[in-house]
Amino acid sequence: MTEKIVVIGAGTMGSGIAQVAVEAGFTAIIVDTEEKFIEQGIGNIKNFIEKKAAKGKITPEQHDDILSRLTGTVDMETAVDGAVMVVEAVFENLELKKDIFEKIDALCPQDVILASNTSTMSISKIATATTHPERVIGTHYFSPVPLMRLVEVIRGKETSDLITEKTVTICQQLGKTPITVKDVPGFIVNRFLCLLYNEAANMVYNGVASPEEIDTALKLGCNWPMGVIEIMDMAGVDVCGLAMEAMYKMTGEERYKPSPMFKKMMDENRMGRKTGRGFYEYGK
Ligand SMILES: NC(=O)c1ccc[n+]([C@@H]2O[C@H](COP(=O)([O-])OP(=O)(O)OC[C@H]3O[C@@H](n4cnc5c(N)ncnc54)[C@H](O)[C@@H]3O)[C@@H](O)[C@H]2O)c1
Repeated sequence: MTEKIVVIGAGTMGSGIAQVAVEAGFTAIIVDTEEKFIEQGIGNIKNFIEKKAAKGKITPEQHDDILSRLTGTVDMETAVDGAVMVVEAVFENLELKKDIFEKIDALCPQDVILASNTSTMSISKIATATTHPERVIGTHYFSPVPLMRLVEVIRGKETSDLITEKTVTICQQLGKTPITVKDVPGFIVNRFLCLLYNEAANMVYNGVASPEEIDTALKLGCNWPMGVIEIMDMAGVDVCGLAMEAMYKMTGEERYKPSPMFKKMMDENRMGRKTGRGFYEYGK
C-alpha cells in the first residue's frame, strides 16, 4: 500500500501539492469545505495529467495509476485515517489555520507530520493549537507547485529533529529541493517578494508605471523570466494582499504596510488569473 498524504484546501496550492504527491507515487486525499471546491481542484489536476498523457510524457497506464491514487472529501476525520503527513493549505489566516491544526492534532496519531503551507506565518504560533507541537512544521511550496523546485522547510520552536528529517525526505521524494529556514515572518523568499509586490502595487496605484511597463522593465532590465505583476496575478492578488497584511502585522515594519491597491483590487474581485482579471485581463 502506498503512503498517504492528506492536503487540507483544494485551491491553487493544495491541488498542486496533491498533484506532486500522486505523481511521486503517494496516495493523496484533498479535503475542503465544499464538494465544488474539491471537484475544481481535482479537475485541474486531471487536466494537467491528461495533457501529460496526450503529449506522451506518461503512458496511459501511468495516467490511470496516478489518478487512481487521488480522491477528495469534505470529511476530515475519514481523510486523515492512516496518513503519514497532513499538509494544511487553506487561506492565510492564523485563526483558521490554528483551528485546523487543533482538529488534525486531535484526529492523528502522534507520529503523523502536521505541516502548514503558510507563506508568512509563525509555525511556532500555529503549533500552539496542538498538544504535540514537536510534530508541527512548515512546508512552504511555491506556485505552480508542479514546476517550482523549492520547498522552504520551517522548524517551529519545538519541532523535533525526527519530524524535520522525515519532512525533508518526503519533500525530496516529491521531487523538490528542500531548504531548512528559520521561523521568521516570510521565511526567506517572501521577505523579498512581499517588498517587491508592494512596490509594484504602489507604482500602479500611484500611476508611476503600468503593469506592462513594470514587467517589461524587470524582464528586460533584470533578466527576470517573469514580471512581478505577472507573478502576483498567477499567485492571486488576494493571496498576495493577505500575505502583505500578515507580514505587516507580524513585523510592524512600515516597509511591509500593504499598498491600498490590494484592497481596491480585492473589492473589485480582481484576484488575478483565477477570476479572469487582475492587474491584467485574461478573458475568462
Ligand atoms: N498562491 C500562492 O502562490 C502561494 C504560494 C505559497 C504559499 N501559499 C499559501 O498557501 C495557502 C493556500 O493558498 P492558495 O493560493 O492555495 O489559496 P486558495 O484561495 O487558492 O485556496 C484555499 C482553499 O482553502 C479552502 N479552505 C478554506 N477554509 C477551509 C477549511 N476550514 N477546511 C478546508 N478547506 C478550507 C478554500 O475553500 C480554498 O479552496 C495560504 O496559506 C497561502 O498563503 C500560497
